[in-house]
Amino acid sequence: MKDFQGKVAAITGGGSGLGRELALCCAARGMKLVLGDVDEKGMVETQRLVEAAHPGTETTTMRLDVSSLDQVQAFADLCKSSFGGVHLVFNNAGVSVGGPVWENTVADWDWVMGVNLYGVVWGVKVFTPLLIAQGEGHIINTASAAGWLNGPSMAIYNVTKHSVVALSETLALDLRDVGANVGVTCLCPAFFPTGISDSARNRPADKAETITPSDVMLKRAELTKAAVAKGKIQAADIAEMTLRAVENDQFYVFPHRKIKELIKLRAAAAEREQVVFDSLNP
Ligand SMILES: NC(=O)c1ccc[n+]([C@@H]2O[C@H](COP(=O)([O-])OP(=O)(O)OC[C@H]3O[C@@H](n4cnc5c(N)ncnc54)[C@H](O)[C@@H]3O)[C@@H](O)[C@H]2O)c1
Repeated sequence: MKDFQGKVAAITGGGSGLGRELALCCAARGMKLVLGDVDEKGMVETQRLVEAAHPGTETTTMRLDVSSLDQVQAFADLCKSSFGGVHLVFNNAGVSVGGPVWENTVADWDWVMGVNLYGVVWGVKVFTPLLIAQGEGHIINTASAAGWLNGPSMAIYNVTKHSVVALSETLALDLRDVGANVGVTCLCPAFFPTGISDSARNRPADKAETITPSDVMLKRAELTKAAVAKGKIQAADIAEMTLRAVENDQFYVFPHRKIKELIKLRAAAAEREQVVFDSLNP
């Protein structure tokens, strides 16, 4: 898609970080916004920033838990009832939990798989038929460099993001198979500053049980938090790159160039078949 004026963007995780910046980028292009997030205050703040930067932007919000298929269906219904349809679908909400994989609890798995993987699965399941029927649209799935490279203490996150890459690639092939005029973009950033290190702020009470942090885990969490905070590319720049990718019908987006080099090194390690690839010490 190239012309976004007057069209509709649905953005999950629109109350913070990248989702907020995607909302601002879409508003800058004259789009109407439908924001979904479990963080209602965050969405109010996004709406305020959008109105300040692009007065008159039509925005609606919904308290949305993307891990629920019923709620994602209601989110799509809201797009139709508010604005008559939807053109860009950003499956962007995401959370993270750390720890050695054998210690992660059932609740850790349920929570992160529910948001990062099922949230995208339901977004694809609900919105793709609407876009196909409309004859126009684009689905943007926020994966991660962690969809290609595995660091320690992030097993659940890594599993979900590899799955989002697999889902996105297969979705694009399936759409090509049926000749649908619906694009797909798979966004794969490395660390950049947002609220992701503080994901537990929105963790539901019924999935609260988590591991007792060991010293190693706490050290890893500190390193990850520092890497996120020190990320050189800002969420606003990543959002803009993403919108340009949609305009150019580009499938992969790697905002951090180093990631593509590391992926080649991982492939070389697989070729050698000897030891596990360590993206932190390639
Ligand atoms: N920041 C990074 O370093 C980084 C790197 C690669 C990929 N990503 C991905 O970017 C995406 C956006 O994350 P961010 O970095 O902006 O973090 P963020 O914490 O700033 O924003 C994530 C948003 O998702 C919302 N959310 C959490 N659970 C939800 C649920 N069940 N339903 C709906 N919304 C929910 C949160 O309330 C929050 O507003 C995520 O998919 C994340 O995995 C982030």
